[in-house]
Amino acid sequence: MRHTVKAITAVGFFFAATTGSAWAQETAPLAGDIKAGKETAGICASCHGAEGISDQPGVPHLSGQYASYIQAGLMSYKEGHRKSTRMAEIVASLSKQDIANVAAYYGSLKPFDQVVKRTGATSPAEEDPFAEIRADAEECAACHGDDGNADTPGMPSLAGQHVSYLINALKQYQEGLRKDEDMQTFVEGLTKSDLEDLAYFYAAMEPKRAEPPTEGDAIAGLAITAPCSGCHADDGNNKDPKTPRLAGLDAEYLVAAAEGYRSGGRDHDVMREALASMRESDIKDMAAFYATKEPKALPVRKPLSLAEWVEKCDRCHNAGGHSTDPRFPILAGQNEAYLVNALKRYHGGERENSMMYAMSFLMAESDIAKLAAYYAGQGAD
Ligand code: HEC
Ligand code: HEC
Ligand code: HEC
Ligand code: HEC
Repeated sequence: MRHTVKAITAVGFFFAATTGSAWAQETAPLAGDIKAGKETAGICASCHGAEGISDQPGVPHLSGQYASYIQAGLMSYKEGHRKSTRMAEIVASLSKQDIANVAAYYGSLKPFDQVVKRTGATSPAEEDPFAEIRADAEECAACHGDDGNADTPGMPSLAGQHVSYLINALKQYQEGLRKDEDMQTFVEGLTKSDLEDLAYFYAAMEPKRAEPPTEGDAIAGLAITAPCSGCHADDGNNKDPKTPRLAGLDAEYLVAAAEGYRSGGRDHDVMREALASMRESDIKDMAAFYATKEPKALPVRKPLSLAEWVEKCDRCHNAGGHSTDPRFPILAGQNEAYLVNALKRYHGGERENSMMYAMSFLMAESDIAKLAAYYAGQGAD
């Protein structure tokens, strides 16, 4: 709650600052004296380096960063909006004017993105956003296929299945509510976030129709499945995320799933009742009907690749993080550990800034690590 209120204030500040309202003028940076600032900077050098180029992990470069940004940062530490034990002690001893002076001094130096040498590639390689999940999914591939399209009779395809249904099914195996010894073993050691990653991965894959059924009459199945269509849709491509899509699943698997509900191996009252009055031949016809339907791909939010993230960041921080606008700090060549900390704090809401919160709240830890490494590697040629 507190966070939301602060975030809104920060938006107000941003727009005020860009439109030059009276409020923005009140909070406009104080003019600083470079010479006086250079003296104050004596106490900063032990951490930030002699010329504002730091060689300590977690300590940012200051050289040539926008003075208004340095000043705002120091005021945030002073007022407790930004927390850092090391910086808190320093700013406590500085007046507002000292802060303006030292900010003016560092701002007057050559920008660090023109001093620190580039160590990384200029454009992030187009990589597979699912690279890490694919490694986890490798042990599933033998049965469910590389892309979640199983090609063995009796195996369920997972490609294009609903995320919520997949997560729930995996949890049911873990909790022993759904009984299949193999599946129970495979999911035993997976964490909640592993389950989610796997579910998103499979849901995003393009589903393919299973091999044609060898038993059952798909045309007879049309009448039999009429009462099912309220939940599973006419063609087995239902939209409700908790209900599994049946279109294109392997017929043998569908028969086994139906038997599971009927025998109590899968505990689900709705499904047990729905199937209660069916004859064995009806179940085969039902399976043949759904198995021959074309499965439709789902619109699933895929994780962003590094290149896609960077494209967003560069809109404000400029190409490669070489900012040319004082509202947005320079990131190119900045200390990597500092960038990681900054992004984690925006992500967690501890460092309050509505724009950076909006940018970072969907980031996974691996995204933060990759972005920090990328921007830290952008320096001068
Ligand atoms: C004891 C070590 C230490 C000293 C001395 C020190 N700093 Fe820092 N400074 C840090 C650390 C660590 C951080 C990163 C804190 C964080 O993650 O928010 C930091 C962050 C900053 C930032 C934020 C930069 C950004 O990109 O947002 C500014 C500005 C800054 N320091 C200015 C100064 C100035 C000016 C002085 C001297 C008056 C000074 N610091 C002295 C350790 C120090
Ligand atoms: C040895 C083969 C095999 C391997 C390996 C395997 N599975 Fe399965 N999986 C099955 C079988 C068989 C079923 C159907 C079991 C049942 O009737 O409950 C199944 C069912 C599932 C289901 C439920 C599908 C549905 O439509 O209800 C999910 C989800 C699933 N597996 C995910 C995975 C994941 C994730 C992995 C890897 C960590 C994996 N499986 C590894 C054989 C396997
Ligand atoms: C009221 C909604 C509803 C109706 C009606 C319904 N289903 Fe279901 N169906 C579900 C839900 C929810 C599940 C998932 C249950 C679970 O988690 O095991 C399911 C699961 C299934 C599965 C297992 C799919 C898999 O991937 O393992 C099959 C097969 C199935 N239904 C077939 C049918 C058939 C055939 C009918 C009609 C005779 C029918 N259902 C009627 C809601 C419904
Ligand atoms: C809409 C504009 C905008 C976008 C897009 C944006 N940023 Fe920012 N960023 C800002 C602003 C404004 C600040 C200063 C916030 C503050 O004062 O804490 C900032 C600060 C930062 C900082 C702290 C730098 C420092 O020296 O303290 C990092 C790191 C950062 N952004 C990284 C990113 C990354 C990575 C992305 C892309 C995922 C991104 N930003 C996208 C506006 C933006």
